[in-house]
Amino acid sequence: MIFCKYALKKINTFNVNVNARKIVKVKNLPQLCKLWKEYKKKKQPCLVLGEGSNVLFLKDFYGLVIINRIKGIYISESKKYWHLHINSGENWHKLVKFTIKRKIYGLENLALIPGYVGSAPIQNIGAYGSSIQKFCTYVDIINPINKSIKRINKEKCNFKYRYSIFQHNYKNYIIISVGLLLPKKWVPNLNYFNFKKSENNIYNTPQKIFDYICSIRKKKIPYHKICGNAGSFFKNPIISIKLGKKLLKIFSNMPYSLENNFFKLSAGWLIYKCKFKGYIKDGVMVYSKQCLILLNKFNNASGMDILNLAIKIYHSVGNKFGIWLEPEVKIIDHYGKINPYILFKKN
Ligand code: FAD
Ligand code: EPU
Repeated sequence: MIFCKYALKKINTFNVNVNARKIVKVKNLPQLCKLWKEYKKKKQPCLVLGEGSNVLFLKDFYGLVIINRIKGIYISESKKYWHLHINSGENWHKLVKFTIKRKIYGLENLALIPGYVGSAPIQNIGAYGSSIQKFCTYVDIINPINKSIKRINKEKCNFKYRYSIFQHNYKNYIIISVGLLLPKKWVPNLNYFNFKKSENNIYNTPQKIFDYICSIRKKKIPYHKICGNAGSFFKNPIISIKLGKKLLKIFSNMPYSLENNFFKLSAGWLIYKCKFKGYIKDGVMVYSKQCLILLNKFNNASGMDILNLAIKIYHSVGNKFGIWLEPEVKIIDHYGKINPYILFKKN
């Protein structure tokens, strides 16, 4: 049994009450590398966090949690573009607000996504018809042991829906900064279906889109400081057209979109069809307005309670539709991130 006395409850948006052996907020790279090296030498695990808005802690963490607050936004320009170099400890939503204030537009559809810049490329954050891959030109990473820095250009990041190379490769590296390219000529991104439904186009300025996105997000997603959650627990499944058509014959009202010759389904709808809307067990609730969100309803459920409901949902959806959902949230045990399939498949 390892003594962990530093509380992580306020450093994970599920508000799970777990501790770490040590938590340090870092403000510069030398401090980060020094700490990392020190703990690795002691053979203790290290975990870098932004806001903890995409993690589920199952147990106490037996090592060092580094809260990354390495800040800095550097702007340069060419004839047609703004070039932004942003350090990974900048808050994502504050960056979106900052750019709009400086009349640098493009990120407005991605307003109010929790978390920090360093985590944003990892799952290629996306919402309302946009994603960071549309703007990201490179991601800079460091190996804190030998301090070597690499620039991973966009083409090598392998961005896909809720995926990038950083999910599986570069495990011993930390993201230190991100490059974004924003065109000076602003074109509104109205891909999200609600924009199309509006009779006259009232979303004709970045500020109006920003305000609209903030208002729908506030209506749709409960504020995690009041009711713990990590946004969507699972990813939306991407399946073959053949399987999609087969399912449509049985479930004719199944929502889907066609993306690059695949069907993208709504995990929230699949969960809803398994009758989980409003379902509550051990203080964990399937949010009734959006079944993809699991709530730590009274902020006293454990990570295991949340995981158990996720596993129950996984099997119900799998058995009903033949679709095996993939968690979006990273699951962390005593020593770090664990492969979710080990947990999900054996139950
Ligand atoms: P953390 O949870 O702190 O970390 C996530 C993972 O990244 C961990 O494995 C961590 O170790 C690793 N990591 C963090 N920083 C670094 C670094 N510098 N270098 C290397 N690894 C690092 N996501 C969307 O895409 N779209 C949404 O619309 C959306 N809505 C959400 C709504 C709510 C209410 C919540 C709670 C979450 C939502 N999310 C959404 C998920 C979440 O906001 C994103 O995944 C976000 O990028 C996570 O940022 P974070 O800083 O909190 O990451
Ligand atoms: N739906 C239901 N019942 C539900 C939930 C959804 O029927 O309980 C159906 C409805 O038809 C609805 C459709 O699913 O119209 C889509 O729902 P929504 O617009 O809420 O989007 P989502 O696909 O569930 C995704 C992202 C969100 C992102 C929104 C907005 C994933 C896993 N989730 O949710 O990202 O904010 O789109 O673009 O891709 C996150 O990743 O944490 C996250 C919140």
